[in-house]
Amino acid sequence: MAQQEDVFKKLISHSKEYGFVFPSSEIYDGLGAVYDYGQNGVELKNNIKKYWWDSMTLLHENVVGIDSAIFMHPTIWKASGHVDAFNDPLIDNKDSKKRYRADVLIEDQIAKYDDKINKEVEKAAKRFGETFDEQKFRETNPRVLENEAKKEELHTRFAKALNDNNLEELRQIILDYEIVCPVSGTRNWTEVRQFNLMFSTEMGSTADGAMKIYLRPETAQGIFVNFLNVQKSGRMKIPFGIAQIGKAFRNEIVARQFVFRMREFEQMEMQFFVRPGEELQWFEQWKQARMKWHKALGLGDKKYRFHDHDKLAHYANAATDIEFEMPFGFKEVEGIHSRTDFDLSSHEKYSGKKIQYFDPELNKSYVPYVIETSIGVDRMFLSILAGSYCEEELEGGETRVVLKLPPALAPVKLAVLPLIKKDGLPEKAREIMDNLKFDFQCQYDEKDSIGKRYRRQDAIGTPYCITIDHDTLNDNCVTIRYRDTMAQERVPIAGLEAIVRDKVSLKNVFKKIAES
Ligand code: GAP
Repeated sequence: MAQQEDVFKKLISHSKEYGFVFPSSEIYDGLGAVYDYGQNGVELKNNIKKYWWDSMTLLHENVVGIDSAIFMHPTIWKASGHVDAFNDPLIDNKDSKKRYRADVLIEDQIAKYDDKINKEVEKAAKRFGETFDEQKFRETNPRVLENEAKKEELHTRFAKALNDNNLEELRQIILDYEIVCPVSGTRNWTEVRQFNLMFSTEMGSTADGAMKIYLRPETAQGIFVNFLNVQKSGRMKIPFGIAQIGKAFRNEIVARQFVFRMREFEQMEMQFFVRPGEELQWFEQWKQARMKWHKALGLGDKKYRFHDHDKLAHYANAATDIEFEMPFGFKEVEGIHSRTDFDLSSHEKYSGKKIQYFDPELNKSYVPYVIETSIGVDRMFLSILAGSYCEEELEGGETRVVLKLPPALAPVKLAVLPLIKKDGLPEKAREIMDNLKFDFQCQYDEKDSIGKRYRRQDAIGTPYCITIDHDTLNDNCVTIRYRDTMAQERVPIAGLEAIVRDKVSLKNVFKKIAES
């Protein structure tokens, strides 16, 4: 675990050193849980968004996009349930004066049982070597079984407390399991209270009578209130989806873990409108489709898992998370929810406008049901960074830090490096760059030794470096160096575009999704 935390710290400092993520307002000592994306971070983030957007709108004929405003009529948040029910249970430690989410403290406690079980499995795997049967061990080892039973007991009690909205019971669990404040180490806890996560501001001047409005805590409501606009103007037939990427804001109590939990973040959400009664079938379909989308990036299938919700949100009749193995354990990156007709019906009620779809095949009108896929751009970004970060020992005792980013997402696709800064090599390098810069994000670098320049590109995940040497001037060939293997080969300049395009195009990732 300590080793994992160490990796996480390194990842955070690497992100800053190489222009991926900076703390917001840093020269004023920062602002809690708000971050800025740097020159490489914004490219990676844009590539992630493009991967999502294109997969939704190009691969699905019946999914279209919108871009709704962040400011919306305040009654929307009443109708959606956010004014009354968008709360987190918080608890304070009286000694450290630190505030925590009661549910997160208990979830961390549950995760400790998993850690214990995994340690037993690791120990046994080492002891038994190749003959080790992990499944049998998990099913029969008394210590594993004991920890499984304890975990299950806590989990059941916790799920019931959440579902009953029983704040006293949440506190009692914290006391019974002797959960201590990580800062003070004491169990001197306050009561558990509910805390609404929405930020509010005012629109209009006070003289006119200002209106309290909210910064949206999810982009989904912008889609719901535009359901009729899109359906009618696009002549959409059910089933169909509306996709949107945009900022969302939440006044998170426990803002930690870097860009995992931010107060200002970005979501990529898609609402898929279906016939009532068909929603669970579509839920299953989107669950599988979204998992394929993640796995197609090639970071390793074992890094992903589903986690079904213990407590369904006020609008859902089924929900699951796609979790990724972050340096701090498996954590939610995406939520897939069957939201029933809750939102559209509620907007019908609050707005007084009929929000229904006439189904020509059934010859009747109904309020459609909704399957939602909702993924945080920033969490996806973190999962990609964490899954790509490697420290490698090289021959001669040297080490290199390399981001083995999926090439289609890498901020820079190709580095163009003249071997030396004279003899016409920079001019030749510029000529190559000028040809390729319309197709790919290229970076020109002539400073320092070639080895140092390779390291700089490894550190930002550039899949290809090409070196222009004296021979290039005669044979029109360059040396291409591959990031992951560090292998080098001589290729004609005329073939470069095809080589690079083959690996960095999103098309190949989409083909993988289609084949899987
Ligand atoms: N419309 C449904 C919805 O918003 P959610 O599970 O609350 O559902 C969806 O959020 C996704 O948004 C999460 O899976 C996560 O990736 C991202 N997300 C939520 N809160 C976040 C935060 N404070 N910081 C970064 N990402 C967040």
